[in-house]
Amino acid sequence: MIQDLKGKVAIVTGASKGIGEAIARYFARGGASVVVNSRKQEDIDIVVQSIKEFGGEATAIAGNVGNEEDIKNLIESTIQIYGGIDILVNNAVVNPYYGPIIGCDAPTFDKTISVNVKAPFELSKLAYPSMKSRGGGAIINISSVEGISPHEGMGIYSVSKAALNMLTKSCAIEWGVDNIRVNSICPGLIKTKFSQALWSNEQWTKHFVSQLPLKRVGTVEEIASLAYFLASDSSSYVTGAVYTADGGLTL
Ligand SMILES: NC(=O)c1ccc[n+]([C@@H]2O[C@H](COP(=O)([O-])OP(=O)(O)OC[C@H]3O[C@@H](n4cnc5c(N)ncnc54)[C@H](OP(=O)(O)O)[C@@H]3O)[C@@H](O)[C@H]2O)c1
Repeated sequence: MIQDLKGKVAIVTGASKGIGEAIARYFARGGASVVVNSRKQEDIDIVVQSIKEFGGEATAIAGNVGNEEDIKNLIESTIQIYGGIDILVNNAVVNPYYGPIIGCDAPTFDKTISVNVKAPFELSKLAYPSMKSRGGGAIINISSVEGISPHEGMGIYSVSKAALNMLTKSCAIEWGVDNIRVNSICPGLIKTKFSQALWSNEQWTKHFVSQLPLKRVGTVEEIASLAYFLASDSSSYVTGAVYTADGGLTL
């Protein structure tokens, strides 16, 4: 039986929709107090409201994780409101460029790295002292199968996710002594706004899923349930792992 999250405080970045929203809901159902982040206040207010409707505890803290001040505010406000941090989910993402690496300019590269890699690095470092003082914690980085095996047109995004997987392993090595576990989840194709350009192309999707062992696109709940396990004490001996949840795509 998977242990609940009662008494734990969790931050989920990019939680106004998609995978992040599903994770926030799962954590709140499991008894955690959840800080719901994204750039748009009105969107995260709606998520918090719906969590409160089923009796969960949540707070909306808007901010761009590509911005240093917003990152600091997210961590400091969480500690002020809930007294500390036990779980951090680095989920927010940008992918401003689709195409060959030769056509990607430096500012676009920087933006991708800033949100997909530097933000998890900064947030993890800022959350670390609080987790350590509470006797441990769990950091979950939402990566991608692209971080394991790149596909054409996704080069810079793949670079960012591969770096995130290595950040996961490096932090796991250094912070295990403090009982802070750090793990990555690499989703395959999950039906969200982020991946709409892919799954809305019926012909492409039909061909794509025909090659998957599980023969279908995944759901946000199928990622949230894995994140829940990694956040809970049921995964107390799991750290530095890079989990695929991809219907078998990377086999
Ligand atoms: N969907 C897939 O097929 C798939 C596959 C592999 C990996 N993933 C990974 O899964 C994670 C979630 O993706 P998703 O598909 O759920 O995406 P999504 O539905 O587009 O949601 C992305 C979330 O990130 C927020 N966000 C974007 N930029 C932000 C920023 N700078 N600061 C704070 N929040 C920001 C968005 O809200 P605002 O725009 O309002 O800020 C939104 O809440 C990502 O890490 C992605 O790489 C997804």
